[in-house]
Amino acid sequence: MAIKVVDREERIVPSTVRDITELKRVEEELATAQVEAAQVRKLAAIGKLVVDAAHEVNNRLTAILMASSFALGQIDEGDPCKLDLETINEEALYIRDIVKNLLDFARPSRGRVKEVDLNSVVQSSVALLQHQMELQGIKFRKDYASEALRVMVDENQMSEVFHNLLTNALDAMPQGGCLTIRVRRQNGHATAEFRDTGVGIPPENLNQIFEPFFTTKGDGNGTGLGLSISYNIVNKFGGKIEAESQVGKGSTFIVSLPLAVALSRQCQPMVGQSSKIRILSEGQA
Ligand SMILES: Nc1ncnc2c1ncn2[C@@H]1O[C@H](COP(=O)(O)OP(=O)(O)OP(=O)(O)O)[C@@H](O)[C@H]1O
Ligand SMILES: [Mg+2]
Repeated sequence: MAIKVVDREERIVPSTVRDITELKRVEEELATAQVEAAQVRKLAAIGKLVVDAAHEVNNRLTAILMASSFALGQIDEGDPCKLDLETINEEALYIRDIVKNLLDFARPSRGRVKEVDLNSVVQSSVALLQHQMELQGIKFRKDYASEALRVMVDENQMSEVFHNLLTNALDAMPQGGCLTIRVRRQNGHATAEFRDTGVGIPPENLNQIFEPFFTTKGDGNGTGLGLSISYNIVNKFGGKIEAESQVGKGSTFIVSLPLAVALSRQCQPMVGQSSKIRILSEGQA
């Protein structure tokens, strides 16, 4: 069976899919691309909502800050209202920080991108949570690559991703367990794998965990933003996050990023690159 693959301009892609196995693979890739596109559309819609609301709040905040600063400059040292005005001022500044974080989430910048060794980014994220792991009785196995695995990322943003994955793993093992971390080179990519022996994720939840606000942590323990923010960050640097899990056995999250060497060999940057293919049977071509 011969199948022609065409791009969105209806040009035939110079490869003919010859057997059903390959057709299946292309179909799976297409399905994954569609899920990813839906995720991006959802995030864009939420992003717009957040940006609009944040701008409104910011305008009002500027007015509050100006008025409170002006009033503070006018009143005497011993005035009983001084403390209240200072509180208004400090709290308004605090809200301004929250709004700024929301804007950063909705309009993520690429940040300060530079070449870093993935081993050391993972290591420093782990170091921050090592004490917590000991307290929870979690055994920790590490297997870092012996060579430097250079990737082009913003180190702070990638630390945020690893922090999210590690805290999720810790949350999944409240009675202790084992966390295995493996960093290695694989097909032109650097991968960081986090395997826990926690509660696991039911299959019906597995395709929702990267959606914003999806959480199973009740009582305000989770916002459900950790994985969607992580997904966005990794995607921005041309990488991907994959998850697999078995209820009662544990979960594995794998972050994969293009190696800087592989990136520099390509003529155009991978970041933000999107592709779309459509499959036609021979009669339609
Ligand atoms: N390692 C894991 N083991 C079991 N479940 C997990 C794991 N990682 C993620 N999950 C599931 O995915 C959901 C979404 O995770 P995500 O990090 O996006 O949000 P959260 O941890 O609930 O809240 P937040 O990260 O905003 O504090 C979690 O509530 C949990 O149900
Ligand atoms: Mg989380």
